[in-house]
Amino acid sequence: MQKNLFESVYRCLMEKDLNTKITLLSQLQEDWSNDEFDFNPTKTIEKVPDAGRPDKPTLVPPKDLARRRLGSKEGHASLMHSIAHIEFNAVNLALDAIYRFQDMPYEYYRDWLGVAGEEAYHFQMVREHLNSLGYEYGDMTAHDGLWMTTYETDHDPLVRMALVPRTLEARGLDVTPPMINKLRSIGDKRGVEILKILLHDEIGHVEVGTRWFRYLCKQRDLNPFEEFQNIIKNYFHGDLRGPFNFEARKQAGFSDEEIDWLKTIK
Ligand SMILES: [Fe+2]
Ligand SMILES: [Fe+2]
Repeated sequence: MQKNLFESVYRCLMEKDLNTKITLLSQLQEDWSNDEFDFNPTKTIEKVPDAGRPDKPTLVPPKDLARRRLGSKEGHASLMHSIAHIEFNAVNLALDAIYRFQDMPYEYYRDWLGVAGEEAYHFQMVREHLNSLGYEYGDMTAHDGLWMTTYETDHDPLVRMALVPRTLEARGLDVTPPMINKLRSIGDKRGVEILKILLHDEIGHVEVGTRWFRYLCKQRDLNPFEEFQNIIKNYFHGDLRGPFNFEARKQAGFSDEEIDWLKTIK
């Protein structure tokens, strides 16, 4: 008997236990490659104010996060902990993009399942490195804002693609190179190596978002350049702020017009 893609993805999305979640995700990928899935929409699509995540880390507003110097052992681990948290959330973001939008083409689900797998791999890699520094994921507090944008964009895949991959994940492209330099300056070779892999893969994730954003614009006869700006204006709470990594954004499918526009933002 076939399994339903959306039900299976929902189960993985809501799973709280780290190891079970990773196992469910590998199963999803195996079932996908064996063509086990049917794509029948579920009767209802649940809103997910909080996706499945372990009880720890405790989530706090960004202003309450402890600031530690990278030079200290704790500061170093704290940077790795925050990256692990982002990667863990990214698994849920990718799964939600599948579950929530049930009338997209086959390739959309293939792409986002691929992203979910890479995020899980990133998470595991960063978690192991964090372990080597003497800490486990959950030992420190973490940022509570990451799921918010996902929840607020659960009504429309166009808005979701604009704000989650093309704004939040794209920000990762800007901030990772300076982070690589910092890790290099404290002699963390493995950290540098990991972040380089993350940066490379994240270009791909933003590119997936860009491709589906353009697909939906075309379907609705919208100008993607104008639409992106409208969505940022109407939905995005943060400031769109540089410095931007133009090279990486270009590789991730940002058009020359968009790059020129970003150049006007300080
Ligand atoms: Fe990632
Ligand atoms: Fe990503």
